[in-house]
Amino acid sequence: MSSSIFTPVEFPVDFLWGAATAAYQVEGSPLADGAGVSSWHRFVRTPGRVRDGDTGDVACDHYRRWPEDLQWMRRIGLGSYRFSISWSRILPEGRGRVNPAGLAHYERKVDALLEAGIQPNITLYHWDLPAALDDRGGWLNPDIADWFADYASVLFKALGDRVPMWATLNEPWVITDGGFLHGTLAPGHRSAYEAAIAARQLMRAHGRAVQAFRALVPAAPDRRIGLVVNIEPKYPASHGAADLAATARADAYMNRQYLDPALRGTTPAELPEVFGEAWVDWPAEELALAHQPLDFIGINYYTRAVVRDDPAAWPLRASAVRQTQATHTETAWEVYPPGLTDTLLWFKQHYGDLPIYITENGSAFYDPPSVEAPVLDDPLRTDYLRRHLRAVHAAREAGVNVRGYYAWSLLDNLEWALGYSKRFGLLHVNYATQKRTPKATCALYSQVISTRGRCL
Ligand code: NOJ
Repeated sequence: MSSSIFTPVEFPVDFLWGAATAAYQVEGSPLADGAGVSSWHRFVRTPGRVRDGDTGDVACDHYRRWPEDLQWMRRIGLGSYRFSISWSRILPEGRGRVNPAGLAHYERKVDALLEAGIQPNITLYHWDLPAALDDRGGWLNPDIADWFADYASVLFKALGDRVPMWATLNEPWVITDGGFLHGTLAPGHRSAYEAAIAARQLMRAHGRAVQAFRALVPAAPDRRIGLVVNIEPKYPASHGAADLAATARADAYMNRQYLDPALRGTTPAELPEVFGEAWVDWPAEELALAHQPLDFIGINYYTRAVVRDDPAAWPLRASAVRQTQATHTETAWEVYPPGLTDTLLWFKQHYGDLPIYITENGSAFYDPPSVEAPVLDDPLRTDYLRRHLRAVHAAREAGVNVRGYYAWSLLDNLEWALGYSKRFGLLHVNYATQKRTPKATCALYSQVISTRGRCL
């Protein structure tokens, strides 16, 4: 079936509508109730790492205010809430001793969500590693697959009987590219060798956690585990051979580096060229471990890139060409909704019909720090949401198995190294008072949910 801008939009009754957050970005109270120090708690305290010296010490105070935020989720009409668990709240030293108060916090949250008819979708790792594990090499230490599986097993035993959706890792590409190659995210290293090692350990850990899930959680249609990746489709700047090769390298590095091991048990052919002498072929048993049957894939989509050959760009020798005529968000990302349809079609073509959830999509545009009106008008963000939802619908019409959509984010929050300067929320957060105000985008999303998209 083909679709056009004239195709009326209507999503199926069972399409899952959600919003997402991540622990360190929203919770605050990082050391409450016996929690251990995390890598991000330390990273934000390293001068020069985070814009304006912002920290997650208070953030949106979601650790304490989640019942109020749950009321907002109900009002919006969400069917699911995607959030992450802070490893160092569960295991303050990263391994060994379990902190019952930390576990109880997430148990209460899960039970309240279920009570409200909102499906919890838990991410086990959204970038905040226990600092004690970082001290032992973190994602560079081969023991981390065991540490991660042990941590995951604590949660599967405690919550596996009632949480319908789990993801092992959020955006492994960003973990290695930001954390180990360019050093912009914790732990802030800059080494192609380390990036290549961390990639392998992340996928070993993913595989071990999926195995633990299968062993501990009885199989059922509403007990599913998957992996969340960020996809940014790459379009060549020209049809010249050098630009086409650069585009293939960029696509392999960002889009296929983790999907190929997870879904095919292979690594992309272009990666040895990308990593150069830092590349090591993955042993067969590591590829087999990474390649576990998954119940779904989560895709985070924000923008595209138009790629050109660029010998000066380390280590990829490719860079993005800014599309000067296009609208860009505050994070300098081109607004390009057709890229979301293309991404979904590309996924189906490369990896088949595995159920897909858009686990993140959203935009940062300027909003004022405080709001008096009952609803904050945010026309650029509203337009972004509308056009991206139409793009998801177009992919469904073309036969892609996309089953749900999560807006990033429920709340304005700490945008990692960019601090609080970028606002992605459906709900505006006044950081001085913690007051939440719905944005017009939030009102549109609510209407989309209640009309199954017919209002788009
Ligand atoms: C991806 C990450 O998962 C999330 O933590 C981040 O805030 C958003 N994208 C926006 O950059």
